Amino acid sequence: MLFSSTDSFSAIWQTLLHELHRGALDPKHPFRYLTVATVGEQFPQVRTVVMRQFTADLEFLAYTDVRSSKVRELLEVPRVSLLFYHPKKQVQVRVKALATIHVEDELAQEHWKRVPDKRRSEYQSKLDPATRIAAPAAGWESSSEHSYFSVLKFSPLSIEALQLAREGHLRIQYDLASGWQGVWLVP
Ligand SMILES: Cc1cc2nc3c(=O)[nH]c(=O)nc-3n(C[C@H](O)[C@H](O)[C@H](O)COP(=O)(O)O)c2cc1C
Repeated sequence: MLFSSTDSFSAIWQTLLHELHRGALDPKHPFRYLTVATVGEQFPQVRTVVMRQFTADLEFLAYTDVRSSKVRELLEVPRVSLLFYHPKKQVQVRVKALATIHVEDELAQEHWKRVPDKRRSEYQSKLDPATRIAAPAAGWESSSEHSYFSVLKFSPLSIEALQLAREGHLRIQYDLASGWQGVWLVP
């Protein structure tokens, strides 16, 4: 269990933030990967991304190709839902956030420096992501002349956690509007 019914709101908040920070730092932590949901044209769209950083300002950072569908969707509707799940601790964390897309600005440049040379081609494919191709190899062609690297920054409006427990599940919500004060919810 990550938290219990006898923990204070502030103690649970600190535990959640600690685990989220660990997710960004430890490649083996289950919070390393998150599901990002966007508002698609006809359907909600979900996909897994790597959490590259969880900042002191509680912003979640991820990297992506600026030509990807998720970026197109975020330009239309910059609201996202994020989902984390910790199977051992039996905790689900749901986040509502506002997204900003960073291309060639200070933040993007700072993070591009951290991308190892051998991983840079992931943001330099010749063809746009989701282009139909005759065979997989066509999708691996890249050119270092053009880089489509971008950093997605998700700034949370609310963070909710569900702790499964034998003696009774616990659901707690924190939101920016109330200064991140906690409130229990019916699970
Ligand atoms: C374990 C895992 C990690 C992934 N990490 C990223 C990532 O950090 N950034 C990214 O753009 N796509 C990542 N992907 C691929 C996305 O899930 C998705 O397939 C791709 O970005 C295209 O999504 P879109 O068409 O919604 O833009 C990852 C996929 C898996 C399975």
